[in-house]
Order: sequence, then C-alpha cells, then structure tokens
Amino acid sequence: MTPAVSTTHLAEQFQTAFGRLPDGVWQAPGRVNLIGEHTDYNEGFVLPFAIDKTARVAVGVRPGSAVRLLSTYGDQGLTTADTASLDRRAAKGWTKYPLGVIWSLQQRGIDVPGLDLLLDSDVPLGAGLSSSHAIECAVISALNDITGAGLSPEEMVLATQRAENDFVGAPTGIMDQSASLRGSKGHAVFLDCRDQSVQLVPFEAENAGLVMLVIDTKVSHSHADGGYASRRASCELGAEVLGVRALRDVGPDDLEEASGLLDEVTFRRVRHIVTENDRVLQTVELLGRQGPAAIGGLLDASHASMRDDFEISCAELDLAVETSRANGAIGARMTGGGFGGAAIALTPVTAEQQVRAAVEQAFARAGYTAPDIFTVTPAAGAMRLA
Ligand code: GLA
Repeated sequence: MTPAVSTTHLAEQFQTAFGRLPDGVWQAPGRVNLIGEHTDYNEGFVLPFAIDKTARVAVGVRPGSAVRLLSTYGDQGLTTADTASLDRRAAKGWTKYPLGVIWSLQQRGIDVPGLDLLLDSDVPLGAGLSSSHAIECAVISALNDITGAGLSPEEMVLATQRAENDFVGAPTGIMDQSASLRGSKGHAVFLDCRDQSVQLVPFEAENAGLVMLVIDTKVSHSHADGGYASRRASCELGAEVLGVRALRDVGPDDLEEASGLLDEVTFRRVRHIVTENDRVLQTVELLGRQGPAAIGGLLDASHASMRDDFEISCAELDLAVETSRANGAIGARMTGGGFGGAAIALTPVTAEQQVRAAVEQAFARAGYTAPDIFTVTPAAGAMRLA
C-alpha cells in the first residue's frame, strides 16, 4: 500500500477526481492490542493502543443520493452506490467499510447525504492492525461532523460495530474502533467492554529503553471467515452452560468447577478468556507500578494461551514470537483476532536489530513469505485534519 499522502495533496487528488475541493479531511488510526484478545465480546477487558498509521478520508457532500468512492491505491477504480438502496452483497473490497458505516447511521435514523469520498491509508491491509476499522472510524468521524448527528465516541463505537457485524458480516467486538476513536498519544486504552468506560494508561516504551516491534507475517486472515465466529460461539456456549451473562463474570477461581461442567474444548476456550481478562488487569497494574519493562511475562503467557487454549495462532506467528524472544525481546505475542496477521515484540532498543535480522532469517529458512517488521508508538485517536 502507498504511504499516506499529505492532507493538502489528498485534497488536491480529491479535486482532480471529483472536480472540486472536499468539505473536509478526517483521519483515524489502526491499532495494536497490547493484551486482552477475544475478551471484548465477552464483556471483558482490553488494552489496545492507536498506532501512528492511519486511514484518511477526504469527503464532500454532493446533491442527490449517490456515493462515489475512490482510493489512492486505485485498486478498484471509482465505485458508485446509492444511499437510498445500499446492498451489502453488492459492496466490494474496501468500499464495504464506508458503505457499512452509512448504512449503520441510516439504521439509527440519521440522514446521510450524497457524498464523494477519497480514501488514503498506510495501515497495512489484512495485517491484524485493524485497517478496516481505521477506514470505518475515519468515515464515521466525517459523517458525524457532516450530518451534525452529534454521536458520542461510545455511540460511534456501537455504530461501527453494527456496520462490521451486519453489513460487512464479521461478528467482531468493540476493541478496535474504541482504540481508533478514543486513543491518545503516549497511552494505551484500558477499556471495560461491559460499560465502555476507558482509562488511559501511559505506555511509553522508549522511556524504558524499549521499542514495540510489529511483525506482519503476511498471512492474511478475515474475521468474516469461520474461525473467529466459531471461537465466539464457544464462548457463548461456555457462558450459557456456566449460567453467566458473559465470560467476564467467570473468575480464575471458578475454573476448577468449570472444568467439570464443560467439554474439554469449550473449557480451554473459556480458560483463555478468563486468564486473559486477568492478565489485562495485571498488565495495567504493573504498567502503573513498574512501567513497560515489567509486562514481558504477561505478553508471553497471553501468546501461549492463544496458541494452546484458544488455538488462534499459526506457525508463522509462533515462529515470529519464539524467534523474537530467543533474540532479546522481553515479551511477544500475536495481536488481533488471529489466524494470521501480526505479532508484537516488546524489545530493548539494543536488541532491535538482532530481533529483526533473526526473524527475517527464520522466516527465510522456513520458506515463509518475508515478514514486514516495523515499530509503532501509541498515537492520537481519530480527528479532523482540515
Ligand atoms: C478483532 C476484532 C476485535 C477483537 C479482536 C480479538 O480485531 O475486530 O473486536 O475481538 O479481533 O481480540
């Protein structure tokens, strides 16, 4: 994907494409999840942060009900849809994200005018860094301003979740859009997914002599495929058998009893969620008391739990994690929904080059596609740029 262009350049490209300047330019970031995987739809805890890679949309209102969509990566050419008759089955590629947001706003009774929209993004696609939510959050920020709908961040989170669930067809939770809309520079977003309350937790790895490496394995995944949905179904089954509203209501001390009530696979799925919620709470506590250098063991334990209990890792992710750890990272785990995508490795600055080289070599030796390795820092959430 092309790197994000400047705001002025994007406005100029909009003018070239649509014959006039946009009414505004909005941006929203992708995210990395520090810890708390698949806990969001179990009404549990997550600790993601918005990253310094963003989707940007230049948007202009136009007469009538047509929506014209174009991206700077030019993969699909100009797509035209009609806000009066949006069809989820007809929406192709990235256009299902803006169209899903428009549809979702309409479901809330918000009138969306005709629009021209130009998208640019440097959030790697399919890397597990929420490129789709970055687009949705940029679009909903734009439409919230343009329509004067006055939605709160919490309402925008639910509206984008509805777009994902019911228009895109991915049964995902609320973590990604919460990070993208509510992120803050230098902070991770500690989110209670039951009531959407947020606590911003300082996370500045560089102050502890660390960098956060992202290793994009290039194994692409889709949460509209069956794996994500089947994990969600196991969690719902577990909650039902245990007689709780959501697995959030099961604590580590309840696991022994749960093991007698659940089948073996469901028990392992439940154990991942229960221990992962606990790891999020421990991470927040340790970050507050001791800072980023103290959380390595929790990242490792989270990965093991996803690999062995939740079974959402893959060979490439495991290799990225193991090689990072063996070469100096203090903790590493896959991040995001799993079945591909990226791993994160919290790494001393002094070991960064060694980890990068070792992972590249290990992937080459295994015959895997070369990974893309880069650093991220916690960045601001969605905003209007112009
Ligand atoms: C995807 C989903 C999120 C969350 C994660 C797993 O990123 O969009 O809602 O469930 O997977 O933690």
